[in-house]
Amino acid sequence: MNTRIIRLDPGNIDMDKLETAAEVLRGGGLVAFPTETVYGLGANALDSEAVAGIFRAKGRPSDNPLIVHIAEREQVGELAAFTPPNAVILMEAFWPGPLTLVMPKSARIPDSVTAGLGTVGVRMPMHPVALALIRAAGVPVAAPSANTSGRPSPTSAQHVMEDLMGKVDVIIDAGPAAVGLESTVLDITSEPATILRPGGITPRQVEELLGAVQIDPALTVGMSESAVPRSPGMKYTHYSPKADVIIVEGEARAVADKIGRLVEEYKSKGITAGILATDQTRHSYPAGTVISMGDREQPETIAANLFGCLREFDELQVGVILAEAVDDTGIGLAIMNRMRKAAGNRVIRAE
Ligand code: TXA
Ligand code: MG
Repeated sequence: MNTRIIRLDPGNIDMDKLETAAEVLRGGGLVAFPTETVYGLGANALDSEAVAGIFRAKGRPSDNPLIVHIAEREQVGELAAFTPPNAVILMEAFWPGPLTLVMPKSARIPDSVTAGLGTVGVRMPMHPVALALIRAAGVPVAAPSANTSGRPSPTSAQHVMEDLMGKVDVIIDAGPAAVGLESTVLDITSEPATILRPGGITPRQVEELLGAVQIDPALTVGMSESAVPRSPGMKYTHYSPKADVIIVEGEARAVADKIGRLVEEYKSKGITAGILATDQTRHSYPAGTVISMGDREQPETIAANLFGCLREFDELQVGVILAEAVDDTGIGLAIMNRMRKAAGNRVIRAE
């Protein structure tokens, strides 16, 4: 398949070019497009043939449901069987934005979108190009992250090209994604509502509006092997770079010492270590290939860079990645969740 690249300036969208992409969506094709979280791979959510194409292009397991993206709040009416009162409160507060609401699904949505579940995840993205595209297409757009299944989510069009060139009809390039981690997935069919995947909207922000929120036990500390995540996607080893990832947590000095010793150990076995550090610690390492994820004082910068750093280590072909843990409050919960997924939960405590 010949993949067309369409470049758009989010501040001044060329509507003719955008219409070309919208037409592809209406015609049952696949369009990768930017959102404020990560790039998505879109298809008409009401066209099960088109949706099947998403699973093929990504190599995605068919039991993992897709999020449906909309541009107007009224579109929820045709996707959800009914709109729970909590949904209205949350939509008013956080849409457009990085919050996916899991609601009872309407009969119009093909089973392939929801992987046969009785619920559907819906989100209104904040990116101007995403909103304009969905509006121009005139249909709700099913879109997972636009990566090959198992690879880190794409935060730039370049990442999408690495994974999906020749497998999709259009890739829209509108610069880097701002948030860098996928949306918070919140199941509002449970009482209290349950965070199935942490993201840009924090548990505290949801709690302030709903009074209470629970976090899917499968996401919390240790992530016991027995806990089965309710969000099917969370059971897969996601976000994995090619090298093994090991997280080192503890007090800053102890972490740097521990990673330093591990680098030497690997070196003696002929293995090059990549070190995922931060602006504050990047100079603590005399050996190994160091990349900074960002500033610990501004964890949003770490969120924005994490997936790109993991892809960079793939290119550098390091044998192992040693990652400094970060504080898991606020957006840090989402950062550490993705890091643990990338590490297959291998966490070492530095004493
Ligand atoms: O920020 C995002 O959410 C990005 C952009 C493109 O919008 N999309 C994204 O989609 O991350 P994807 O498919 O990579 O991740 C969707 C997650 C999966 O873990 C999936 O299992 C979960 O949401 N999910 C979707 N529908 C669900 C449902 N009805 N019930 C429970 N989990 C659901
Ligand atoms: Mg994904």
